[in-house]
Amino acid sequence: VNMKTKLIICCLFFFIFSPADGDSNPFSLDKTADLFSSFMSIFSRSFQKSARILSRDRSNFEVPDVVMEELEKISESCLTFEEHKKLANDTENDADQLYRVLHFNEELLKTATEIIGFTELRAVLGFSPPKPWTNSNEIKSRVPANATIEQYYNANESRHRNRILRYSLEDKQVSSAVKFLDKRFPVIRDAYTKSYKHNWDGKKKIDRKIVDDMLDLYDTVYDSIDFRIYDLTRRSKIEECKPKKDT
Ligand SMILES: *[C@@H]1O[C@H](CO)[C@@H](O)[C@H](O)[C@H]1NC(C)=O
Ligand SMILES: *[C@@H]1O[C@H](CO)[C@@H](O)[C@H](O)[C@H]1NC(C)=O
Ligand SMILES: *[C@@H]1O[C@H](CO)[C@@H](O)[C@H](O)[C@H]1NC(C)=O
Repeated sequence: VNMKTKLIICCLFFFIFSPADGDSNPFSLDKTADLFSSFMSIFSRSFQKSARILSRDRSNFEVPDVVMEELEKISESCLTFEEHKKLANDTENDADQLYRVLHFNEELLKTATEIIGFTELRAVLGFSPPKPWTNSNEIKSRVPANATIEQYYNANESRHRNRILRYSLEDKQVSSAVKFLDKRFPVIRDAYTKSYKHNWDGKKKIDRKIVDDMLDLYDTVYDSIDFRIYDLTRRSKIEECKPKKDT
């Protein structure tokens, strides 16, 4: 997908999703600012990724079609307000609860998705699991020429993190959201593992190019989950959601 197409896709999401949310005050400043920040976050990630790929040999790593089809399950599903409250660990039943919980969960679930993606990537490449979650994300601008491949990976992973976060999350919150996703949407972890293994079978020796390509592949999988999570945390989606019998 080239840069121009990405841009068009970004704009389309912006227009499709913004008026569709059944909020009683759709033009509140807060909401517009949040929407803008979501948009900027997608835009800046796509932009950085295109710039990275253009500046070196193109990656031909891709997400298998079957994975894309399986991810549809997220869009076909929904979460009830009860599930959202539990996930957010929010027991204050006040008038702002719905809005507060949905916003918080959007970010929490995206962060959990990110951690799942990095955990699986590190496992496939044979590196140690991610450190406990922190909001800080300093970026190392230089890796010494003699850095090991794992040090190179560590230095670059942070460039692929979502760097526009509104909430300060704790590791225990993120871990509990990871457990929630593994139970409720196992398709997320599967999507990462299948995509990584489809493109790199572990037989070819890891070099920096493979690390770069795998991190870009991580981005592609993340992007296909990101907008579905956004959709799960829309107010209109919760309102039409009936509790599932099997959960
Ligand atoms: C990986 O990190 C190093 C140092 O931080 C940087 O020079 C290099 O450009 C990064 N690679 C990519 C593909 O961003
Ligand atoms: C790289 O070289 C420097 C000295 O030039 C040394 O201090 C460092 O330990 C080396 N790192 C690795 C991973 O070998
Ligand atoms: C949920 O909230 C309670 C009470 O504030 C707290 O003790 C607990 O650690 C929280 N759990 C998580 C996973 O954040």
